[in-house]
Amino acid sequence: MGIPFVDLKAQYKTIKEEIDRAVFEVIESTQFIGGKKLETFETNFARYTDAGYAVGASSGTSALHLAFTALDIGKGDEVITASNTFIATTEAITHTGATPVLVDVDDDTLTIDPEKVEMAITDRTKAIVPVHLYGQSADMDAIREIARRHSLKIVTDAAQAHGASLNGSRKAIQGDATCFSFYPGKNLGAYGEAGMIVTDDGDLADRMRRLGNHGSADKYTHTEVGFNYRLDAIQAAILDVKLEHLDEWNNRRRSRAKRYDEGLRDRPVRLVPEGPGRHHVYHLYVVRTADRDRLSEELRKKGIATGIHYPVPLHLQKAHADLGSGKGTFPVAERAAKEILSLPMYAELTDDMVDEVVAAIADILG
Ligand SMILES: Cc1ncc(COP(=O)(O)O)c(C=O)c1O
Repeated sequence: MGIPFVDLKAQYKTIKEEIDRAVFEVIESTQFIGGKKLETFETNFARYTDAGYAVGASSGTSALHLAFTALDIGKGDEVITASNTFIATTEAITHTGATPVLVDVDDDTLTIDPEKVEMAITDRTKAIVPVHLYGQSADMDAIREIARRHSLKIVTDAAQAHGASLNGSRKAIQGDATCFSFYPGKNLGAYGEAGMIVTDDGDLADRMRRLGNHGSADKYTHTEVGFNYRLDAIQAAILDVKLEHLDEWNNRRRSRAKRYDEGLRDRPVRLVPEGPGRHHVYHLYVVRTADRDRLSEELRKKGIATGIHYPVPLHLQKAHADLGSGKGTFPVAERAAKEILSLPMYAELTDDMVDEVVAAIADILG
């Protein structure tokens, strides 16, 4: 039968009635843009993340672009982020006119290395963008300290980390602005494109909301040139239903991860550990082996789907050739890119399925 990498149908089956009702209510109301469903979801998501304000966006990428723009980041500025993230992080920086400055990552957690951040700071640096990769927080205490000393903003890319926390606090993983993606496969996934920014700064929230709505607070009054980056009501209604289940799904992901950890402990693979104080929500469960390509191919033959997040670090992507960082610049990220393999991970994964993946890996690698 095989084990898919994610199974969105399995999740839908468990909440079908609630979802169908919520979607139907939006259609009946014909309030497709803005309105009560959006306001309710923003309020509930702000409460869930323990943030002062939540501003809906049309995707995680537009959420990042809105945050950078509202913080007046633009031409001549530099923004530091990790080389092993999805390109959306650097696209959003580049589209403001600023320059992404990539740095290497911690060899264990694969999140941004604070020491490397500090070394990359120049008098043009405006912000740091830690990415909470795979579902666990970057080393936010160290990054906050660096940002404070150099008067830099922090925009956190939490696209993969809904519900993650640090030292028991969801606020502790946040920056001046924190951006989430609700891409369908995420821990909290829409049925299309959607995103969100949370912040404790009311003026920043207002500006992001205005910018995402054509620079307009009142219809046909445009105080600055903005974007159409609104989160639509059908997605908000779906996400609001799913938010109620998020903690339960994240707990299931954690228990799946624990079962993988135990099963793989004595196998020739390296695990990505949960960092100190971090509550990992396992958007992705990643193992490392020098034999990655063979492992993924043999698993595929056994009907087990896997992914690679991400196979080419951003400094080696053609799109960023202008940044001028060739092979060998970020050795930790480069080695990881050759070794990492994401195993099936979702709340509906059964014990038997995890055990089948573990047994297959044992069979292939010994
Ligand atoms: C780390 C990271 N940043 C940004 C994004 C962009 O989010 P979206 O696809 O919703 O634009 C994603 C997800 O795709 C992501 O994983």
